[in-house]
Amino acid sequence: MIAFQRTVLAQGLVSALQGKALLGDAHNGLFLAAPRRTGKSTFLQGDLRPALQAAGVVVVYVDLWADARRDPGQLIAEAIARALEPQLGLVARSAKKAGLEKVKVGGLEVDTSRIGKVDGLTLTEALRLLHQTSGQPVALIIDEAQHALTSEAGEAAMSALKSARDQLNQPGSVNLMLVMSGSDRDKLMRLVHTVAAPFYGSQIQRMPPLGPDFIAHVAVLIESQRPDLQPVDQALLQEAFEVFGQRPQFFMAALGQVLSPLAGLSGRFEPALLEAARQQQASDEAQMESEYLGLKLTEQAVLWRMLEQGPRYRPYDAEALRFYRDKVGRPVSVALAQKALEALRQRMPALVWKSARGEYALEDAAMHRWFEGRVAAGQWPPQPSQGLLALDEE
Ligand SMILES: Nc1ncnc2c1ncn2[C@@H]1O[C@H](COP(=O)(O)OP(=O)(O)O)[C@@H](O)[C@H]1O
Ligand SMILES: [Mg+2]
Repeated sequence: MIAFQRTVLAQGLVSALQGKALLGDAHNGLFLAAPRRTGKSTFLQGDLRPALQAAGVVVVYVDLWADARRDPGQLIAEAIARALEPQLGLVARSAKKAGLEKVKVGGLEVDTSRIGKVDGLTLTEALRLLHQTSGQPVALIIDEAQHALTSEAGEAAMSALKSARDQLNQPGSVNLMLVMSGSDRDKLMRLVHTVAAPFYGSQIQRMPPLGPDFIAHVAVLIESQRPDLQPVDQALLQEAFEVFGQRPQFFMAALGQVLSPLAGLSGRFEPALLEAARQQQASDEAQMESEYLGLKLTEQAVLWRMLEQGPRYRPYDAEALRFYRDKVGRPVSVALAQKALEALRQRMPALVWKSARGEYALEDAAMHRWFEGRVAAGQWPPQPSQGLLALDEE
């Protein structure tokens, strides 16, 4: 199915970014967090980008997860360079061909040998150039922005963007809009939280999940294709969507299945959909459990501590080391803890995320929900089924 358009949300954010909203400071940078697969990238590219363009803004979009092995700073620079290329157009390209090293565009001298190779230091210049040659404000949308914090070059790029923003924007005139999204609020927080953070003082907003309007849209689709199913129970659809963690892809796939003539369903499809959602949730959790049980004891202890402490997690403080020792049953040195953290980070898919400053967090925030659910149910820690004892090979 085609994406459900979120026009109203996009319009609201455009006004906020332009500094037109009465409250808030989105013109200083908009930070949006929402769990994985809830539709952030789809919204940023399919709704926000066109809405900004319609408002006369040049948009640069870059997803730092698109290629996680590439340096984030470089990815940002390349995205800007790509947007710049058509703007510089003939002037620069012919200058380059003619062997000219510098060319003046919009009052700025451009080193033609560097075009397409904008590095962290010249991000500000590149953005200024893009703004001047286009004569329009520029919006830079950085998807999965927390990934920038995993390398020093990425951190430098974030600081460069902040300084670009301060140079290009004046009260009443916003020429550089920054939008950063992330799947994990705690990680995104590191961009804005401490005094040393590049965007200190900005707020992280929860990007609203798809809601009743999306469900209503889906209900209309079903009712038009299958008039025999009118009226669709939207409340039950919404409930199933929530159990699917508000992830449209899984929801739509399950919907397709229960509506398929092959499903051989005799009753209503809504309860079957809810049942599918519960099964998916159970299988997601079973997956996490088996992954956890497959870890070595020190890795389990480290992960447990991270689950318990969340953003307060400190890997090597005395309390953490005591905790590890309690769980493992013998002393765990800093070196051993570090080795466990590294192993968790190197797994495919990785369980642990590390910033350039050596801060650790869980790669997938959904694990926290799993952990809290089990603690509340008195089912933590997971127990290996009989005959399958966790072996510690250290
Ligand atoms: N507005 C939407 N309407 C319909 N399906 C959507 C919508 N947004 C997302 N999806 C579905 O959910 C999947 C995940 O969305 P995505 O934008 O990649 O999430 P995120 O960036 O938050 O991880 C998409 O591939 C698409 O199938
Ligand atoms: Mg995404």
